[in-house]
Amino acid sequence: MAADRQGWWTDDPRIRMLFSVAGATGLRGLSSYFFAPKLLLGANGLDALQNVAPTLSRKKTALIITDKSVVNLAEKVKQAMQKAGFKVDVWNEVIPEPPLENIMAGVEVANKLDADLLVAVGGGSVMDATKAIWLKYARPDMDIRDCKPVDAETLDVMPLGLRFKANFIAIPTTSGTGSETTATAVITDKGKKKVLNHPEFVADLAILDPAFTVGLPPKLTAYTGLDALAHATGAVLTHWANEYTLPLGYQAIKLVFKYLPRAVANCADYEARYKMAIASNMAGMAFGNGAPSIEHAMGHAFGKMFNVHHGCAVGLFTPYMMQCVSKHSEMFLDLAENLGVGGKSKREILDNLVQKYVTFIKSIDCPVTIQELGISREQLDGVFEELLDDTLADAVNLLSIRPMTREVYRKLYLCALTGEKVDF
Ligand SMILES: [Fe+2]
Repeated sequence: MAADRQGWWTDDPRIRMLFSVAGATGLRGLSSYFFAPKLLLGANGLDALQNVAPTLSRKKTALIITDKSVVNLAEKVKQAMQKAGFKVDVWNEVIPEPPLENIMAGVEVANKLDADLLVAVGGGSVMDATKAIWLKYARPDMDIRDCKPVDAETLDVMPLGLRFKANFIAIPTTSGTGSETTATAVITDKGKKKVLNHPEFVADLAILDPAFTVGLPPKLTAYTGLDALAHATGAVLTHWANEYTLPLGYQAIKLVFKYLPRAVANCADYEARYKMAIASNMAGMAFGNGAPSIEHAMGHAFGKMFNVHHGCAVGLFTPYMMQCVSKHSEMFLDLAENLGVGGKSKREILDNLVQKYVTFIKSIDCPVTIQELGISREQLDGVFEELLDDTLADAVNLLSIRPMTREVYRKLYLCALTGEKVDF
């Protein structure tokens, strides 16, 4: 039976059931993959690109996909690839949280060029757009809403064959989304955020050169850094975690606590930028091979509704997520130990851990309550039911360690409104 043609793969009740079973620790321990691209770390990323790109392209025909905010960086990538003998076109029309129409415009450009290498130069929206463009470019026959990690009936990963058409290089220009290393793309359909997920989306090569993130303004640096913190924190508090993802998550969190304030304070702090690029990538591997948590379901729905930056929103909800999922799991104790946070009781340890996050988020001048965004109870009430619908529809709920209900989300949003403690 095909999935409901009105909906996305995440609406299929069989998929929702399957994920709750597949996430059980016992099953996860039996068999799992670990996905990651080849990484080029540090300075001279463009030299490395010239050496590696030819190994990923027979036709030496590449499409650089980017947006208007980083055209200078895209131009540098173009020149490097031309030096390596590539025919290169640049498409700089990606818009934030790309809608399907934007994706299809990119597919048209790829078709005209007949590229066999796609190079994303940009932040999360650009990398996610590139994955979706890649899908429709390689598989014009496929409905994008069916792009799921596993078939609900056979339990197999359905091959897409993307690499018969093109390979994919990701060059992030922000440090936060980790999209260069994950199998996920978030796009917009009819005004709602939707998740595509397939293991073939993991890039062939990711270039983590701080020269591509130096100069990012403080606010964007802070917001994208909080996205990495949210990814890593969710990833170490989920039963989808494993022996590989946990140390990656813990290390990413430590790097964010240490280096994000420096990167925010000084746009040109090369070392801090480098460490944040690593942190973002490690966090991406941790949640990409494990799971993010419910702060992302809230952040997706709330951010879209109130036009709040993704990183700002998920950062704000992270301390509430930590309290909420810790009612169902004691994984926070390992996180506290890794961060050197103590206390006389489990509750005190959790309180101290949450306080460490709240203090940190405030220290980089980011909000820890909805009210700080200038959004009142009345404004929240005006859209509350739709907000709860969207939050519950988010794909992240498939992976939550705590089964989430409408009423739990309602109470959680109200705690986040004013900064109240979560005690349910
Ligand atoms: Fe995120």
